[in-house]
Amino acid sequence: MDKLYIDGPAKLNGSVRVSRAKNAYLPIIAGVLLNPRKTTLINLPELRDIITINKLLSNLGVEIKTEGHKTIYDTSKFEGHEATYDLVKTMRASILVLGPLLARFKKAKVSLPGGCAIGARPIDIHLENLKKMGAKIELESGYVYATTEGLKGAKCVLPFPSVGATENLMMAAVGAEGTTIIENAALEPEIEDLGNFLIKMGAQIEGLNSSTITIKGRPLSELNEIEHEAIGDRIEALTYMMAALITDSEIEITGFVPSHLDAVIETLKKMNAQLEVTSDGIKVLHSKLEGITVETAPYPGFPTDGQAQLMALCTKVLGTSVITEKIFENRFMHVPELIRLGAKIELKGNTAIITGVEKLEQAPIMCTDLRASAALILAALASEGKTEIQRVYHLDRGYEKIDNKLRSLGVSISRINE
Ligand code: EPZ
Repeated sequence: MDKLYIDGPAKLNGSVRVSRAKNAYLPIIAGVLLNPRKTTLINLPELRDIITINKLLSNLGVEIKTEGHKTIYDTSKFEGHEATYDLVKTMRASILVLGPLLARFKKAKVSLPGGCAIGARPIDIHLENLKKMGAKIELESGYVYATTEGLKGAKCVLPFPSVGATENLMMAAVGAEGTTIIENAALEPEIEDLGNFLIKMGAQIEGLNSSTITIKGRPLSELNEIEHEAIGDRIEALTYMMAALITDSEIEITGFVPSHLDAVIETLKKMNAQLEVTSDGIKVLHSKLEGITVETAPYPGFPTDGQAQLMALCTKVLGTSVITEKIFENRFMHVPELIRLGAKIELKGNTAIITGVEKLEQAPIMCTDLRASAALILAALASEGKTEIQRVYHLDRGYEKIDNKLRSLGVSISRINE
């Protein structure tokens, strides 16, 4: 398993361009299954999660060819309908093939995702609403067995604005007969990007960027061959913003839509961060930060995917900060690792109380999940000495070439393959 070593405290300078968004491309790649014609995706990030979902699609008989920065998918020789446990267990987002498989092939066998480090993460909202659309769902020995005579449009009212459930239902609805209405749909920018991708294909979708999305189904044989490039990765962007702030550096982050981070920008400004929004990103300037109280929420609230990174930042902000995690039940796995570096954090249920310290000291630390890994990188940048970070495969799921990007910003970082 790879390890990273970071010499701290680091100073960053220059600019970094974020990759295309993992959480936009994962549902989009699942959506490729809807289309009998070719799909070309541009600038897919080189991430473990992208490799995993591409492996899942090729196991289903999809032909995938890469030509430079283009990846071409051909589903005309499709032959399978099973997403096996060995792939799904490594990535919950595999469940996103369920809707497209049902719409295109009227059957699907997808392994239940199983728990993951940040919580149980059930799929009841996906399944309940696919049933409303005419799917017969059985759960047996860890698999979801789904069949349908043909999906029908339905009114789906989500009890929680689940990102994955919204995406699964949107894709199922494209191939359903009649109109589907999704109420209390998630509002994350990646949903809008998926919607734009589906509309390019020929889907009839209204209400993107609102909590009521209406999709008029049509025969999938009518869909067109398309090309698409996803939005920039806003979570990668906020990670580099906080890397600049925790090292009191001035850098520019480009390649994403700044308004996709409004809640994050507002929170950081409340901490007295000096930020300059540009047309293609954001500039971080020297800042004297103050403590903050914040809780995570569905978009447009403060994103749960930025919670660990904000906590790392707060460990070095003198004063007290209070962070409450409201989306996942176990997303504080980074806390004990940050404490090993000398951070002062007290946990009370789903709330963390952080008291800023003058100094963090290097110590061997271990990644536990994707965003916790990002938090450890941030803390290592601000720690005295050479910090060893273990199990970085978690990090490689969602941060493309992070060592190169940090090195290009002036960080002394090395990776040892063990
Ligand atoms: C997406 O996960 C993201 N993943 C997550 O990012 C992100 O943290 C999450 O949305 C919230 O923003 C991708 O887009 C691939 P949810 P998803 O369905 O779709 C509960 C990262 O770091 N729930 O909105 O799984 C669930 O247990 C990853 O890039 C149900 O109870 O998120 C959780 O507590 C981590 N039943 C909450 O809703 C369901 O049927 C949010 O889940 C579905 C969800």
